[in-house]
Amino acid sequence: MMKTTVFSLFDHAPLIEAFKKNNNYEIGKILLRQFPDEEIYVKIESDVKGRKILFVASLDRSNDKILPLLFAAKTARDLGAKEVGLIAPYLAYMRQDKQFHPGEGVTARYFANILSNYFDWLVTVDPHLHRIQSLQEVFSIPATVIHATDEIVHWIKTHINCPLLIGPDRESKQWVEQIANDTQAPFLILEKKRRGDQDVEISLPEIHSYPNCTPILIDDIISTAKTMIETIKHLKNLKMKLPVCIAIHGIFAGNAYEELLKTGAVEIITCNTIPHSSNRIDLSGTIIEYLSKT
Ligand code: R5P
Repeated sequence: MMKTTVFSLFDHAPLIEAFKKNNNYEIGKILLRQFPDEEIYVKIESDVKGRKILFVASLDRSNDKILPLLFAAKTARDLGAKEVGLIAPYLAYMRQDKQFHPGEGVTARYFANILSNYFDWLVTVDPHLHRIQSLQEVFSIPATVIHATDEIVHWIKTHINCPLLIGPDRESKQWVEQIANDTQAPFLILEKKRRGDQDVEISLPEIHSYPNCTPILIDDIISTAKTMIETIKHLKNLKMKLPVCIAIHGIFAGNAYEELLKTGAVEIITCNTIPHSSNRIDLSGTIIEYLSKT
């Protein structure tokens, strides 16, 4: 059987290492650089004619990544690749999923539309599906969601005695409720009001029934970390134990990681959808296992 060629444009070492160990894949060679005027140069050095290929690119900080990625995908197609897929462990722009104020664009739709024009399929991990309930509402190519919950459950079970799971807003309920069921832990879902990028208000958790449990804050994304920071401030005021913070995607804009630790997170744990020193939960096996079944 002809191997699928995997190209990694931006460093995603854990996933690439996992592909290297799997006999169904080979790692392709691609050269990406900028001309002095910052225009992008792409050269695919592996033979892709007639082959299935896939790109691995986590799409955090996607504004810098998207053009090189699209150029690479188009180059592969022009060189005769018979299938061009994309594994984007983190899928960007999903939070702008409606027009919140007059004049705004629904960039979740625009971004999905762009990707749909360049790739034959997409696989991603727990995208921020909220008002858009399924990726097929915005993608015109097959778009598959892989879930991180089993691996998060495993991490919690092996590291925390008596966890109390806390979701900081209603959007987190879809993950927190399932993780709570599977770990058989109690959970609370708080209310969030976001007044601006850095201005977030979180409702007070009712935690008096669980004085000895370790609070675990769970969210899909940490960006500015304000959501988790405001929740930790409540826990401190209520004299609760300091929490462990778990996110599927740790974006950590600016100093968010340091600020979150400074506020009192005893540990920050993320999945390796976006490479970061907080990655403790490896999803490469889950992703490759899914691909092997398709
Ligand atoms: C949005 O509702 C998401 O689920 C997260 O709660 C949000 O992206 C976290 O953002 P930040 O870290 O900037 O508070």
